[in-house]
Amino acid sequence: MSIIKKDFEKINITKIKQSKNNKKLTVITAYDALFANLFEEIADMILVGDSLNMSFAGNDDTLSASLEQMIYHTNAVCKGAKNSFIILDMPFGTYVNKNIALKNAVKVYTQTNANAIKIEGGEDKAHIIEHLTKNSIAVMGHIGLLPQYVRAEGGYKIKGKTKEEEQQLIKDAKAIEKAGAFALVIEGVKSNVAKKISQSISIPTIGIGAGKDTDGQVLVWSDMLGFFDKFKPKFVRRYLNGANLVKEAVSKYKEDVLNESFPNKEEEY
Ligand code: KIV
Repeated sequence: MSIIKKDFEKINITKIKQSKNNKKLTVITAYDALFANLFEEIADMILVGDSLNMSFAGNDDTLSASLEQMIYHTNAVCKGAKNSFIILDMPFGTYVNKNIALKNAVKVYTQTNANAIKIEGGEDKAHIIEHLTKNSIAVMGHIGLLPQYVRAEGGYKIKGKTKEEEQQLIKDAKAIEKAGAFALVIEGVKSNVAKKISQSISIPTIGIGAGKDTDGQVLVWSDMLGFFDKFKPKFVRRYLNGANLVKEAVSKYKEDVLNESFPNKEEEY
């Protein structure tokens, strides 16, 4: 069986919205052209997550990611996956008020082929999302555990553990939908609460560490392919042991260099 969808066609906002209660959405991150090309015909959407600041740039959190960095990686992803629906994750500090947010979102649209941007935050960010969507920017929301709040909250906190948090998350989701977002990421939220959030809005929810009842799932590619092996968050399923495969292959290469079996006659000019 081919792993490539025979009926592959570029997804758009209308199809994403229609997928609610119809078909689960598969979203994956990508940061470069090479991997984006591998994911292009399989994933429904590719997110250029600011998680690249950790997994690729080696930082401890996402906060030092810059818009220039995100634009650079998004351009690479767009070149590698010309038929994909691509979302640029707006980095910390680039949407502190509606005017700054619009200026930066316009920069994203004019300097990349990204289809949409993603913004972290709930009800408090609704007025910013509304300003963006009214100015023709497609916005994906992001609620629950918010990586850009890690320093302010003193760590990565799972949300939806209390009745108050549950009510606030539902209010956040409704405000984001009303502001015109086309989809909503729910990260690190108790699964029963993520289910209630998904049922309370009509735009698709994309879960990460939020159980099976969201309208789709997103995973960071280097986590799900096992290239990042320092630790494994509970919600990650590893589909490949990438780190081991790479280490084994590079060790074999070294062995072949040392014992002079590489290159052989066929591999020389
Ligand atoms: O930066 C990222 O990769 C993300 C996902 C975890 C949703 O925001």
